[in-house]
Amino acid sequence: MSDYIQIKHSQIDFYHKIPLFYKTEDNEYHLYKKKGEPIAEARLETHKHPPLFILQEDKRTAAKELQESLNIDLARQIASKGVKTVKSIVGRIVAEALEDPCPKTLDSLPDTIEIFFAGHAKNSELLKAMTMVASGSSLIIDHTVNVLAIATRFCFCNKLGEDTSKKIALGALLHDIGTAEISQKILEVNRRLTDAEFDAYKSHPLKGCDIINRCGGSFDPMVAEICLEHHERIDGSGYPMSSRNISFQSQLVGLIDSYEPLTYRDKTFRKAKTPFDTLQLLKHEVLEGKFDKSIFRNLCSCMTS
Ligand SMILES: [Fe+2]
Ligand SMILES: [Fe+2]
Repeated sequence: MSDYIQIKHSQIDFYHKIPLFYKTEDNEYHLYKKKGEPIAEARLETHKHPPLFILQEDKRTAAKELQESLNIDLARQIASKGVKTVKSIVGRIVAEALEDPCPKTLDSLPDTIEIFFAGHAKNSELLKAMTMVASGSSLIIDHTVNVLAIATRFCFCNKLGEDTSKKIALGALLHDIGTAEISQKILEVNRRLTDAEFDAYKSHPLKGCDIINRCGGSFDPMVAEICLEHHERIDGSGYPMSSRNISFQSQLVGLIDSYEPLTYRDKTFRKAKTPFDTLQLLKHEVLEGKFDKSIFRNLCSCMTS
């Protein structure tokens, strides 16, 4: 097995701390850039890099460095109101976390939330606008970023305390982190899942809770709880525990988690429905007793305001 991993071309200039390598025709790896320094300006300007590689042992440091750089980029883009770029940067941060959920990749996420909240204070249309554009990322990443934006919007709209709001936002960002341990084939299926596939999919809340407890050292317990409970329903019809006793924040993320995919016409084609039409679709599940009526009402007034 190779001790080197190829990196994406678009990420080359994010790496300062770790060395980069290129491969010769004889399949030997040679140093392209030393540890602790950026790629030379002259080389960056040409945009002509050979395929570049990092050492396997630097993989997690690389992921952390990439996320830190993305956070800096995020703050810059929020300030300049580049909504689509903001969405795709948050998507890339989520993608890194999903690819290898470990302390190094999860540690940068509270900073992402801080930047996101500070950005909202300067650009109050940001959250609304974010859910209107497709980021070009995969379905699961687009979904996650939308759930984050809607949950944060709900928190601001309902004037929840800043501390609680940030925990809910982090829980929204990480609610499906358990899918990192589900087969990619199941996640990308564009048809109804078989019973066996659905059983495998249904393990993601527990897996997510385990990942947070294992890796998210300093996270508030609310984050793991949201991962575990976001598919539970107050009538006991949810999973994995068929629990009826679900925290407010898990109910909220669960409701938004159900709302968000309904804004798509189907799984591959984004044609946004109005919030009003989407909420109408969800209303019958509320009337069946799956979701709390007052949380639904508050979501309705915040999404249609
Ligand atoms: Fe989920
Ligand atoms: Fe979800």
